[in-house]
Amino acid sequence: MTRRAVVTGASSGIGRASVVALRERGWEVVGVARRADRLEELAFETGCEVFAADLTVAADVDALAAFTGSAPLHALVHVAGGARGVDRVEDGDSDDWLRMYEMNALSAQRLVKALLPQLRRTSRAESTHVDTLFLTSTAAQTAYPGGAGYNAAKAAESMVPQALRHELVGEPIRVIEIAPGMVRTEEFSLVRLGDAAAADAVYEGVDAPLTADDVADVIVYSLSAPGHVNLDLVTMRPVAQAAQHLVHRGPLAPRS
Ligand SMILES: NC(=O)c1ccc[n+]([C@@H]2O[C@H](COP(=O)([O-])OP(=O)(O)OC[C@H]3O[C@@H](n4cnc5c(N)ncnc54)[C@H](OP(=O)(O)O)[C@@H]3O)[C@@H](O)[C@H]2O)c1
Repeated sequence: MTRRAVVTGASSGIGRASVVALRERGWEVVGVARRADRLEELAFETGCEVFAADLTVAADVDALAAFTGSAPLHALVHVAGGARGVDRVEDGDSDDWLRMYEMNALSAQRLVKALLPQLRRTSRAESTHVDTLFLTSTAAQTAYPGGAGYNAAKAAESMVPQALRHELVGEPIRVIEIAPGMVRTEEFSLVRLGDAAAADAVYEGVDAPLTADDVADVIVYSLSAPGHVNLDLVTMRPVAQAAQHLVHRGPLAPRS
């Protein structure tokens, strides 16, 4: 039976790649982001449904639920999010911190509240498992200088799947968290740092950062695994990144 997913962050990067990958494997997909023009292009390219919504606005999330509720729903794949700035704690802009909390953590809670009834309804009607998946980050696991605002927002988002898995025990609902390290996407560092040169410098000399397709592959795998298999937490990094702050720049080569 065809499965249907809501994928947030569908207008760029990992979310977009996930929509493409899921569509290639026969999923029906509702792609969600704010930029309607990009969503329309994606719909044209992949045949997905789309819905423009700002996930920091409760009314938009409710409208999304009204839209998706017209058909069965098997998976919530929450990819949307991001970082603002690299301020040290002493210099941090509280508006940026609040925005990151809203974008990453509160959006996750709002989506669960709005879509869990539909996932349960589908599970009951079709006697099948259903999925929730959250794209957090290694930034949720380890702090680094200039990272605290994003570290805190992603750690807060990570608590949503961790608590949810406890709350849903006994139901056929998987709760999956995927935490990537450095992923080179066209917008993440640009949005965070505000200019292209600074964004390029993040990846300079790294052999080689993860790509959006690498993460989408893991998302697809985790949703395609047998229904009794729950990948609680997948941490993935480029080989060149041993830890959040320990990145090798230059070609990878065995030592002689
Ligand atoms: N790139 C990395 O190195 C990396 C590493 C680990 C984790 N992550 C996480 O992976 C996720 C995707 O990152 P990415 O690299 O693919 O970034 P990206 O290319 O900047 O994509 C971010 C997506 O989130 C959407 N979005 C942002 N704010 C939104 C809002 N208020 N309402 C609805 N949609 C919103 C954006 O769409 P619109 O602007 O059209 O709304 C866009 O589709 C994020 O959660 C990020 O924290 C990224």
